[in-house]
Amino acid sequence: MKEKTPGSSRIGVLTSGGDAPGMNAAIRAIYRAAYELDIEVAGIRRGYTGLIEGDFFRMERSHVVNIIHLGGTILGTSRTEEFKSWEGRQRSAENLQNAGIDALIVIGGDGTFKGAARFNDETGIPTIGIPGSIDNDIPGTDFSIGFDTAINTALEAIDKIRDTAISHGRLFFVEVMGRSSDLIAIESGIAGGAEFLVLPEDKNAINDLCTQLSSSFSAGKRYAIVVVAEGNNPGCSFSIAKEVSDRLSIESRVVVLGHIQRGGSPTARDRVLAAKLGVSAVYAYTKGHAGVMAGELKRSVVLTPFDKVIMGRNKPEQNIIRLAKILTK
Ligand code: F6P
Repeated sequence: MKEKTPGSSRIGVLTSGGDAPGMNAAIRAIYRAAYELDIEVAGIRRGYTGLIEGDFFRMERSHVVNIIHLGGTILGTSRTEEFKSWEGRQRSAENLQNAGIDALIVIGGDGTFKGAARFNDETGIPTIGIPGSIDNDIPGTDFSIGFDTAINTALEAIDKIRDTAISHGRLFFVEVMGRSSDLIAIESGIAGGAEFLVLPEDKNAINDLCTQLSSSFSAGKRYAIVVVAEGNNPGCSFSIAKEVSDRLSIESRVVVLGHIQRGGSPTARDRVLAAKLGVSAVYAYTKGHAGVMAGELKRSVVLTPFDKVIMGRNKPEQNIIRLAKILTK
């Protein structure tokens, strides 16, 4: 890192946790907004791991050229235990101070903001968050960067699986990501016209699915697509499929979409969201905000304090669950 000119300002940016399509568009927006305001940007590699190790570089315009359409994150990412410790956060603060970095912008999900909240409060280094996660479970924003791309990726897969399901007359279980959030399953299930949705909290799901399948298969239907939310148990669709196949004596196939949902070129929605939030995060810093996440609620950018963001998880709204129940059976 070069010496800073007196009076100038320098912000660090990192991506942390599960990567999400659109993170690069957010990095680009941050760089370009900062450039307009004469603020230098330091890229921090590999999320909090790079922050703890002082793995920084001065970002130039060339770093953000031709990245808007790229999935993943040019900065790299990590899930690290070390930042959960006071020592890890103190080392990070020292690294930032030594590099003349005045503030930090973090792009990530729930775990990222838990660390950021502590870091902001303990060190006094202004920290601003941007929600980036395919799970869309972060309070303080209607959508997190990456969700729209992930549901479209899942949808494309479901549409393709439907072709072969119909051709063979087969029952398919398609498992989608989302950990504690069912939103990818609900929205890709509705959009993909799934015959049934299995959500982890629905304890009767397998019984209901068997009842429904046995009646539709006896009425002549020969295929079905069941979208399964992975919940906290990735791979759960294998045992669900076995149980249903055994009970109904129907052959089935399982497709676990997995990390495919995390990659790929971001959709226009994700790019626009990333642009709005990236620029807003930089402006929030210049206006003296700290310890807040820039999210979008009802089409307006809203700054929500970290303590509110980390208090819980966004759960699917009742109206979308009702819609899914009406349409996916
Ligand atoms: O939080 C994003 C997410 O993709 C979840 O949907 C999924 O359960 C998890 O990350 C997978 O994590 P990892 O990449 O560490 O296996």
